[in-house]
Amino acid sequence: MSRSYPDEKKSFSVPRIMKMKGKGTLATITCYDATFARIIDKTPIQLVLVGDSAANVIYGLDSTLPVSIDEMVMHTRAVAAGLSKALLVADMPFGSYQPSAEIAITNASKLLAAGAQAVKVEGGSPHIREIIGKLVEVGIPVMGHLGLTPQSVHKIGGYKLQGKKDADAELMLSEAGLLEEAGCFSIVLEKIPAELAEKITSAVSVPTIGIGAGPDCDGQILVLYDILGLDPEFKPRFVRRYAELEQVIREALERYTEDVSRGKFPSEEESF
Ligand code: KIV
Repeated sequence: MSRSYPDEKKSFSVPRIMKMKGKGTLATITCYDATFARIIDKTPIQLVLVGDSAANVIYGLDSTLPVSIDEMVMHTRAVAAGLSKALLVADMPFGSYQPSAEIAITNASKLLAAGAQAVKVEGGSPHIREIIGKLVEVGIPVMGHLGLTPQSVHKIGGYKLQGKKDADAELMLSEAGLLEEAGCFSIVLEKIPAELAEKITSAVSVPTIGIGAGPDCDGQILVLYDILGLDPEFKPRFVRRYAELEQVIREALERYTEDVSRGKFPSEEESF
């Protein structure tokens, strides 16, 4: 087999994603395993995030805080195995980048070795911006994340709308500009008023990707399990369900159980 570089026309690199600024067409999604990644790979999705929301949807935890770098590495490796086109971004979990730039570089390198092409970190404080700058300096593309930053849930006091007060909105607007200056190639805006997201999107020259941030961001992201309706109890206002898979899966399992209990499975054709 001959060596080759990824085909820029078929795959989404960081520069290609950056060129999508201003079009409002970036469709992005989270993913945690190879089976779903293979399905995503057959669609026009342009960017996939291995989110630390794995803590919630995979591990059944009520915050993203306990997920570890080793767990994120395994999920990243699994998603990378099924993906060939979309840009693969991996979340840096809580505690894996905050202590120092050195620790952040060590842990981001593990995610890149597992197949990520970029990492995402939460927050816009001077300390976080310094760490972002160092990651970018050594060649690791970084996606920023402002607004509702779930890793700060205890400081914020819950999963509420952020940037409602003028002072908070001003701070977020200025932090978005400073994240761009620090080298972020894009910024996630989570659960903020649509008007503020529109202001931030106009103010920065890198793509913004919204979740609960209205229609004026350069792109949108949602948690895969939420749009597929895998948890009928969980339906925040910003989620649109494109399928009701919990029902489909439950019915399939009920039919299977029925067939086994009535001796209808396996049949002769399904036996050796
Ligand atoms: O972890 C995650 O899924 C995220 C997205 C919601 C942006 O950070």
